[in-house]
Amino acid sequence: MRLPAVVLNFKTYPEILGKKGWDLAKRFAAVADDTGASIVLCPPTADIAHVAKLIHLPVFAQHVDAVDPGQTTGWTPPESLLEAGAAGTLINHSERKVAWEEMAKSIPRCQAIGLEVIACADDVAEAETLAKLSPEYIAIEPPELIGGDVSVTTAKPEVVSRAVDRIRGANPRVAVLCGAGVKTRRDVAKALELGTSGVLLASGVVKAKDPEKALRDLVKGLH
Ligand code: G3P
Repeated sequence: MRLPAVVLNFKTYPEILGKKGWDLAKRFAAVADDTGASIVLCPPTADIAHVAKLIHLPVFAQHVDAVDPGQTTGWTPPESLLEAGAAGTLINHSERKVAWEEMAKSIPRCQAIGLEVIACADDVAEAETLAKLSPEYIAIEPPELIGGDVSVTTAKPEVVSRAVDRIRGANPRVAVLCGAGVKTRRDVAKALELGTSGVLLASGVVKAKDPEKALRDLVKGLH
């Protein structure tokens, strides 16, 4: 993923399910083309293959399982994401937590086949511990701020800057993102000022009256 970046988690909001999400993905790709901004999309698993074929932006999954391909039902191994055209995956999002032992297996499995990993952390302590697993990125996202109207960069800037310092100290190869309540270009610019390489967001764009317009405004904060 080119940094700095805006990583857009579609979650499973009704506004992005199926064709609605595919149409939005095309509009978000146009924003990237027009502005040169680095934008990554995270559609639901069921839409990864279609969105990856539809647009040229990096598509990341919202979750991955450490199972091997084979006699497993209802799981999503890294190989399945790669075949679907994903460039990477989120893991351990506060809405889809993963046990440490599982991440210790799935992160290297993803990296062995070329999938980048954004590991999500609820707090600074978890972020520092996750850095030991060497994901490419760690996104610090205080759960209580997710989906809210106040950006983590306003409500808890010290959490972001402390996460940057502690992750850098634990593993300088890991790039830091932050998320929760990010809604405006100012929130994005502040995230970069606090030492991150970008933001992970959802409702500020997906739930906006005009999602494309909201994204166009947000990416201005990357410059
Ligand atoms: O994965 C990013 C997400 O949890 C942040 O949500 O709606 O606060 O941007 P939101």
